[in-house]
Amino acid sequence: MQPISLTVNGEKVQAHAEPRTHLGDFLREDQRLTGTHLGCEHGVCGACTVLIDGAPARSCIAFAVACEGREIRTIEGFGEDAVMGQLRIAFNREHALQCGFCTPGMLIAARDLVLRLPDADEQRVRVEMSGNLCRCTGYRGIVRAILSVLELRRAGNDPAIEVKPAQAVPEFKPFEASAPAVAAAGPAVALAAVQKAAGTVIEDEFTVDHPLAKVWEIFGDMPAVAACLPGAEVSEHTPTSLKGKVSTKFGPMKASFAGAAALERDESAKRGAIKGNGTDSLSGSRARGDISYQLFDAGNGRTRVAVAIDYSLQGPLAQFSRGGLVREFVKKMVADFAANLNARLGAPAGAAPAVAPVMTISAGSVLWSWLKKLFGSNS
Ligand code: FES
Ligand code: FES
Repeated sequence: MQPISLTVNGEKVQAHAEPRTHLGDFLREDQRLTGTHLGCEHGVCGACTVLIDGAPARSCIAFAVACEGREIRTIEGFGEDAVMGQLRIAFNREHALQCGFCTPGMLIAARDLVLRLPDADEQRVRVEMSGNLCRCTGYRGIVRAILSVLELRRAGNDPAIEVKPAQAVPEFKPFEASAPAVAAAGPAVALAAVQKAAGTVIEDEFTVDHPLAKVWEIFGDMPAVAACLPGAEVSEHTPTSLKGKVSTKFGPMKASFAGAAALERDESAKRGAIKGNGTDSLSGSRARGDISYQLFDAGNGRTRVAVAIDYSLQGPLAQFSRGGLVREFVKKMVADFAANLNARLGAPAGAAPAVAPVMTISAGSVLWSWLKKLFGSNS
């Protein structure tokens, strides 16, 4: 047994847990909080969803001892929560439950959706809730209930509640905002697509120690771009399309998404887009990703690259699209890509440095701590 100290529903808890005890069992058996239900215990069904530090997480795949110092909120901790109150009424009215087994996890995921995505439409609600399975009711009533709460809040019935920054919708700022002179030219090839984003949008940027013309040239060479991205391979390509795969590893979880992408480039504005879909043959999960980028002259022979990634995941791996895990993963991927691009552009002709076949995560990084949170000491 290991000592563990954490906060559960606002109260400090000091207890002991076996290293192998997952958070769901700890909450149910040690804390007697049986509102957290356990279905698959594989991180797939969402019945065990709780908030860890304000973000929805599967308590069946988080070890209790890995939650040391964290704030946990279970369904029992939402008694006075105004949004949860609206959702409870709506679930009841819209027949969004029968046996109620999935309902605690559904409600916690739905509340997170309502707070993060106040403008979500039916399609978005369905995508966001795809990580929560209901075995008996079906989803029409659940979707109707969530849409009705979104509608209620858009109409102004928005009870004052505190929304932590981590739960807020990340504001998408088009690249134009930081570089109006460049953005004024040319059609909005990539950014318009991202602005109509259907998934989660992550923005990042990096600087390359080489002039804009040289960087723009390599962005038009897809095999060279793929060679800078750990885990990426291009099997076929034309100026407007490519086929290939991207392999990733999250702790003990591996995925290899094979698919195709359409390529767009706007020469005058120095921006472009890669819009792809892929399927992971191991899990059957589907990924969609639109990557848009724009290059800016950063002065002194350097180039700033702004990137926006709009992605969505469906299937068993959809559980990883929530919270900060994917955000940290993408940041790591962009940083690795930037370092490899710099190295490649600086290498003598024909002597491009080797790139790791799959992205590695160093111990002590933010991503490492996320993985440890999810998988405990196994990651
Ligand atoms: S019990 Fe945790 S996801 Fe199914
Ligand atoms: S209400 Fe029975 S599993 Fe969803």
